[in-house]
Amino acid sequence: MLNILVFDSGVGGLSISHRLADYLPMAELILLSDNAYFPYGEKDDTELIMRVSDLLCKAELQLKPDCIVIACNTASTVALETIRKRLQIPIIGVVPAIKPAAEITSSKVVGLLATPATVNRSYTADLINKYADGCTVVSVGSTRLVEIAEMKLRGQNISLSEVSEILNPFIIAEREYSLDTLILGCTHFPLLSNILEAILPQSITLVDSSSAIARQVINVLNIEDTVDQTPFSKLHQCFMTKMESNSDLNTGLLQYGFKSPEIFQPRILS
Ligand code: DGL
Repeated sequence: MLNILVFDSGVGGLSISHRLADYLPMAELILLSDNAYFPYGEKDDTELIMRVSDLLCKAELQLKPDCIVIACNTASTVALETIRKRLQIPIIGVVPAIKPAAEITSSKVVGLLATPATVNRSYTADLINKYADGCTVVSVGSTRLVEIAEMKLRGQNISLSEVSEILNPFIIAEREYSLDTLILGCTHFPLLSNILEAILPQSITLVDSSSAIARQVINVLNIEDTVDQTPFSKLHQCFMTKMESNSDLNTGLLQYGFKSPEIFQPRILS
């Protein structure tokens, strides 16, 4: 049985696990959400690196996955190197889909919608310099939109005018500079794609990293040759670092094929 741990600060991991389930229906997915330390986009870099690498060391020992997908741009763009040094298993990070966006844009004006931390990271600037050199990138960092994605999964009402306001720089850039591509550089945001598509001009294409990540997992683990292909037929497990007893959250998780959350209690404390 192939066992993949999908890790995020919150429910953003679902946009990645959903794609992994499409590409790898035989895999058992374990969602680990560090909701006790949410939101990552507002945290100090050094603290975040320690928090995530400690937590994933414990998760590796306790949950014994074959690999870990860090389904969080905010953590991947700062902590990947440390995590790879500390853990023994393959680690696949999720970073903003700047390269694919630069390949499909006609106007060479693209948007990057991510957390405040991700838009300000040197890792992100390096990706832009390397892959989108000839493009203008309009960046918006929003923690509020991350919270709105959490609300949507819990079935709560979303204010469309609030989302519109967050998206306004892209709407203006579409009108004035023909911005035609928007990178969803936070794994929470594909959970809002229906709402984003309804608000944004139709000429804007949304791009995220989920399919590329699923293909990368297949490559890294060389799956075709080594794994039983029988589809996983049960609900997947979900762990959280802070218990939330909420039937609306459970309903949202169920829609993505996950059981109600359990608390992740590391047996080995640092
Ligand atoms: N889902 C995470 C990402 O992809 C971040 C959410 C947060 O700020 O905690 O960046």
